[in-house]
Amino acid sequence: MRKDGFSSQIGALMAIIGSAVGLGNLWKFPYIAGKNGGATFIFLYIGFMIILCLPLMLSELVIGRRAGLDAAGSFKKLAPNTKWYITGLIGVVTAFTILSFYSVVGGWTIEYLISSLTFKTEDSNAQAHFTDFIQSPIRPLFLHLSFIVLTAAVLWTGVKNGIEKFSKYLMPLLFLMILGLAIFSLSLPNAMLGVEFLLKPNFADLSPGLILDALGQGLFSLSLGMGTIITYSAYIDKKENLVQIAVITIVMDLIFALLASLVILPAVFSFGFQPNEGPGLLFITLPQIFLQMPFGSYFAIVFFSVLFIAALSSSISLLEVIVAYMCRATKLSRKKNILIIVSALSFTGAICSLSLGPLANFKIFGNSIFDFFDILSSTYLMPLGALLISLFLGWKMKKTDVYDELSNSGSLVLPLFNMFIFLVRYFVPLAIILIFLNKLQVF
Ligand code: TRP
Repeated sequence: MRKDGFSSQIGALMAIIGSAVGLGNLWKFPYIAGKNGGATFIFLYIGFMIILCLPLMLSELVIGRRAGLDAAGSFKKLAPNTKWYITGLIGVVTAFTILSFYSVVGGWTIEYLISSLTFKTEDSNAQAHFTDFIQSPIRPLFLHLSFIVLTAAVLWTGVKNGIEKFSKYLMPLLFLMILGLAIFSLSLPNAMLGVEFLLKPNFADLSPGLILDALGQGLFSLSLGMGTIITYSAYIDKKENLVQIAVITIVMDLIFALLASLVILPAVFSFGFQPNEGPGLLFITLPQIFLQMPFGSYFAIVFFSVLFIAALSSSISLLEVIVAYMCRATKLSRKKNILIIVSALSFTGAICSLSLGPLANFKIFGNSIFDFFDILSSTYLMPLGALLISLFLGWKMKKTDVYDELSNSGSLVLPLFNMFIFLVRYFVPLAIILIFLNKLQVF
């Protein structure tokens, strides 16, 4: 076993679930489902999880564990003297871009956690409160910095003692907390309207936009397409079962997204709000609901703790992609590299945060810097990464090597192996090209 890796399958699993479950599940999924008519979106989403996300996740797991290196190094080792390592480099750049704004939102979760802990309920104008806060120059910067430093602190002691310990204890806790919140939310008057909205499909809602939203959300929610899973998989022991890890992660990620929707949407319906509020659903609608709800201020504390922990475990995985790469590429110590990367991120994150307030007039292609980083990573870099990863596994790697890695040298039986190869070769690349063209507004 390598010197610093996950010490058990459960540790690896919790870390990967920690990476997957984040703002994507708790913040984006409920509002995208709300915007797209609930059940129809959810059914499609589940379909894509199985035929698109599962093959991609298996691909990243195979590449990472086979090579045992960081995102770029893995491609270099598996395809020496080719340009494939650029796929990994794109991943490292993507991680940096995502972290720059993800940690700003992470700072917001700290703000909301602090105000729930101090029972700050004086302003009922949640919209103005939110806008004033994110546009102010100092406080969000400070909170962003705190979030990045906390992320770095978990990585400081390494994979086994940092990432694995953090995830192993906090993921089960997170699950219990969100389960409790959902049960409470379901007991509110008229909560069943929310459940009905989530469960009763109306296939008249189906549209190309909705299909592509479901695809894009699946990739983001499972941290696919930029080498996060490759990086983590390099720390997984050869005897663990990769198929099991992938399936359990996908099921848990889905359960978290559905539970988050079962927390938010019944409350939205119960208090007469609209489910299609968009990104403001979490930071604007929900605090208004907390004000009116019985035990709302306690509910808020648990909810924002969940949000904060989930965001932190995802940002840990993003930072590890960069740290693992830098440690191999620069030969500096892990701690030195962490310090260098954190300094760089505190700068780019600060610019992202300021671009919502004092620097709002500075635009890149018509977008604020914050939005530009978001669009650059999720619209361009991640689909590109996912495409290259599926092409690499489907067309470049030897089928026998892929089989060998997935089956632990033949000791596991893989009845659907040929189906997996078919999906990775043809369906996944084609589907991703479609998302890409749609986002570029070709159709
Ligand atoms: N999956 C996380 C979420 O749902 C975010 C995340 C972590 C991520 N690592 C990633 C997204 C890598 C894309 C790529 O919030």
